[in-house]
Parts: sequence; C-alpha cells; structure tokens
Amino acid sequence: MTIIFKNIKELIQVRNTPISFVSGKEMSILPTIKNAFLLIKDGLIHDFGPMDNCPKDSFSKVVDATGKMILPSWCDSHTHIVYAGNREGEFVDRIKGMSYHEIANNGGGILNSAKKLQATSENDLYEQSKKRLEEVIKLGTGAIEIKSGYGLTVDAELKMLRVIKRLNENYPIEIKATFLGAHAVPSDYKGNKKEYLDLLINKLMPKIANDKLADFIDIFCETGYFSPDDTRLILQAGKKYGLIPKIHVNQFTSIGGVQVGVEYNALSVDHLEEMRKEDIESLKNTKTMPVALPSCSYFLSIPYTPAREMIDSGLPLALATDYNPGSTPSGNMNFVVATACIKMKMTPEEAINAATINGAYAMGLETKVGSITKGKQANLLMTKSINSYGVIPYSFGNPQIDKIYIKGQEII
Ligand code: NIG
Ligand code: FE
Repeated sequence: MTIIFKNIKELIQVRNTPISFVSGKEMSILPTIKNAFLLIKDGLIHDFGPMDNCPKDSFSKVVDATGKMILPSWCDSHTHIVYAGNREGEFVDRIKGMSYHEIANNGGGILNSAKKLQATSENDLYEQSKKRLEEVIKLGTGAIEIKSGYGLTVDAELKMLRVIKRLNENYPIEIKATFLGAHAVPSDYKGNKKEYLDLLINKLMPKIANDKLADFIDIFCETGYFSPDDTRLILQAGKKYGLIPKIHVNQFTSIGGVQVGVEYNALSVDHLEEMRKEDIESLKNTKTMPVALPSCSYFLSIPYTPAREMIDSGLPLALATDYNPGSTPSGNMNFVVATACIKMKMTPEEAINAATINGAYAMGLETKVGSITKGKQANLLMTKSINSYGVIPYSFGNPQIDKIYIKGQEII
C-alpha cells in the first residue's frame, strides 16, 4: 500500500538525520520543505523532498495537498485520559472562590475521581476512556502517554492499567502506560502514608511488572502529597521492575523533586510551574526532558512554566496536555501549542518542536514518531489551506486540521 501526497505547500519538521530532541537555541529551528511531496509505504514514511524530485511511478492513492501543510502528529506525553465521570461541580466551586487545595482537602480532587473510578466497571471505564482517545486522535494526537492514579487500590489501579492496555491493543496510535499509584494518599491510609507506599511497592509493582502493564513510574511529588524522600523510594522500587521515571513535580511548590528526578535519570519531569534557579540549573546537561502543561495553568489559573527562561538557558522543553478531570479537562494539543506561544512566549517553531519531537522523546518514542524522517510512522496532520504554519498557534481555539493520518490511514 503506497500513498503519495503531492504539492504540499510546506512539509514541516523534516529531519533527514534522526534526532532525539532539540534544546535551547535549536528549538527555534523548524526545518521544512516548501512545495513538497511525501511518499508513504506500508504505514511508514518512505520518501519526501521537493516536488521537482517527485517520483512518477503509480501509487495506490494520490492526495493533492495544494495549499495545505503537513506535519507529524502531536505527541502528547502526559495524560490521565482513563477516568470515570467528571468534576464539573468542583469547577463551579472554584469559580465561586474555593481553591483547588480546599476542594482536595474536603474529599474532592483526586480522591473524588478515585471514588468514582472504584465504583465503575472495567468495561464502562473502557467505554468512557475510548471516547476521549478518539476525540484527541481527531484533534491531531498521534502518540500518547496515559497514567493510572485514579484507582488508589490494588484492584482499581490494575483495572486502570488493563484499560490502557486494551486501548493500546484496539487503537492504531502509539500508547505508553504509566503507573501513578502514588498520586494521592487514599482516605483509608490517611496518616499512614508509609503503609500505602508499601502496598504500591510490594503488592502492586510486582504484579504490574509481571503482567507488563506499565512502561513508566510516576509520583505526585508535592507539598501535602508525596515528599522527595517518598519519590526516591518509589523511583528506586520502580527501577527494580524496569519502570522508567516520569514524574509530577513543582506544580505548586518547589521542594526538590526535580533533583530527585535527575538523580534517577527520569525520562521527564512534568508541570514545573514553580521553578527556582537551582531547578533550572539541575536540569542542564541531563537527558531528562522538562515538560510543560499550559492547559493546566490556564484551567487552574496558576503560573505558566517559565519556558523562556528555561529555553534561553539551553534546556529542551516538551509540551503536553495533562488531560484529566480535575486540573485539565482538555486534550487539545492545538490549544496547548497556541497557549505556549500566547502565554509562555514560545515561538511557533519552538512550540511545534516541543509538541512533536520533544514530546516523542518524553515517551521514549523518538525513533518512531515526532518528525518527518524515513522509516518513522506516517502519523500526520494535514492542515486546511493556511498562509503559514504560524496560523496553527495564531488561530487558537480553532484547530486548522483538514485530515489526520495514522500509519498512513486516513482517520477523518
Ligand atoms: O497532573 N497534579 C496531579 N495530578 C493531576 C491532576 C489531578 C486531579 O485534580 O485530578 C495533574 O494536574
Ligand atoms: Fe498530570
């Protein structure tokens, strides 16, 4: 099966030589080919170049992309799309003046979602979650990471992870699973965090490793949730079971979580709304990808990750949605890219790099997706007729998507 796209106004994020990620000044370079062709064979990128070099052979399908641009699908490296029910009641409480923390301390927040999820059957959870997955695929996401963490019991955490596995089996996009049992201390363990951590380490992790239910290990390292010492404990145990760290840090307070992530070679450290100078310093010259979640900042009205300062000091940055029922009920990567430009002063080039190749790296998928490179999956986003790729973030709230292709197959 071959498919050729012809007359592409601009083919974006073209990397002839494979790269892992871009950082600092390199983030402002977004290589493109104007008036290009792109040839897909058996779901993979087979060839591309200027129209002058377009092969004349006959192909199974020809797409005329005149006026349109093609870029690799978005790589969303941080989501919680497997959840039950919604928390729009808490949203209204916040509008009326309650804080996110007050709501959480009154039994809302993560514990509220856990209660709902525990009472939901595995099948129902799958049905609810698959709708969100289909929704984000239509919005241009072509690779995604999904976390557990709304179960908080042995059964419910495993239920979540099995749902992620089933999504992975039934959908064509790349899905990575993360075990986030240490998302909050469940009510039954109130005042007894140590025992809960024991449960995660000694009961859940062996089972998860045995059934190959997760790729990554995560923890919410935050004041009132889990400390840097708890984080060390969990990451150390995860390592024993081959789970790579990707952690929630510095969302509300900077308490040393970034340093623990770096110490344990975390693949990514995510959130980073509150960054001290030393947090930025400790990420330099590491292989840990900082991940910003601007939709979360938007929805909770908390600070945005200081992207400018981080990129200007030479760091890489990835962008992800954080799609979840409490802090970010949106999985729209187009909005994330726009918000990164509007609120974090990232340029369109930086934001597109952050949402494609750097996002792919933050999921360990940089050899499979995230750029137009021979041999990578043909997970593509074809835009409507637009003047320049700057229109993608400029037209915030209005995705410029004409068609989506996953492994060369047209989705919409
Ligand atoms: O990434 N910060 C921790 N976890 C989620 C939100 C949790 C919730 O409110 O349900 C996040 O923002
Ligand atoms: Fe999150």
